[in-house]
Amino acid sequence: MNRFQAPEAQRLIAELGLPQGSRGLDVGCGVGLYALWLAEAVGSAGRVVGIEPEKERVEAARALVGGQLESGRLEFRQGDGTRIPLPDRSVDWLWCGDVLHHIVETQLALREFRRVVRPGGQIIIKESQVLSALFLPGHPELERRIQLAEIRRTLDEGGGRSFQERRQTTLASLLAVGLTDVTVRNYLLQRRAPLGAADHDYIQNTVFTRNWGARLRELLTPADWDARSALCEPDSPKNILGSPDYFCLYPITVFHCGSTPAAR
Ligand SMILES: C[S@@+](CC[C@H](N)C(=O)[O-])C[C@H]1O[C@@H](n2cnc3c(N)ncnc32)[C@H](O)[C@@H]1O
Repeated sequence: MNRFQAPEAQRLIAELGLPQGSRGLDVGCGVGLYALWLAEAVGSAGRVVGIEPEKERVEAARALVGGQLESGRLEFRQGDGTRIPLPDRSVDWLWCGDVLHHIVETQLALREFRRVVRPGGQIIIKESQVLSALFLPGHPELERRIQLAEIRRTLDEGGGRSFQERRQTTLASLLAVGLTDVTVRNYLLQRRAPLGAADHDYIQNTVFTRNWGARLRELLTPADWDARSALCEPDSPKNILGSPDYFCLYPITVFHCGSTPAAR
């Protein structure tokens, strides 16, 4: 996902206007690419810590990007967004990208975010697909039914509220913990054929094969499963990514709490 989003990620990070030399925290940093880009944005005097509950991802982040900057600029630790292993008011800003919808105890996490950010600092929540993406141009009814199946699939993991519902209530959650100074910005990624390798890999492997693969089979009718398979299976002669007129649209939303670049 990170490589797919890379051009827009660089732009949206630049538009955050993070102060040079500032200290930041990336909550749920995954394998660390965003943490690296954030650390680059705050310059050589800045410092970013990425926390991630899954030990394997912490190790992957250290291996993948941990050595790319001078010592002290970027560090990865095991940690959970609902129990952040940092003192009160210890960072200037906090970034949480495509993570908050995974945390069922949303309010607990947001109160932790407020605790570790210094007064006057910034909390930035990024969520992809607050609005569903378009990956199957020309097949709106099928894609809508696949999206509905995905919404139903994430109900359990989301504690009875789907990931998309959780993403769409991010603003409400921020306001509920008293974060009033919130701006919302949207970025729309568009990619068209011929797709670059990173784009093709993300759509084929992550969207079509993983997200829309076996785990949706029981949630679709046999006819919809067959139609999805013809368009999405990598070895299908009708695989939509092979079409010369293929394109996709994919939205990213940034909820920015605190002093915005325009206001500074
Ligand atoms: C979709 S990935 C996003 C990773 C990374 N932020 C990125 O943009 O590439 C979601 C991440 O959230 C992490 N996560 C899930 N629950 C979490 C929690 N309670 N606290 C912190 N991170 C969590 C997962 O382990 C996973 O790495």
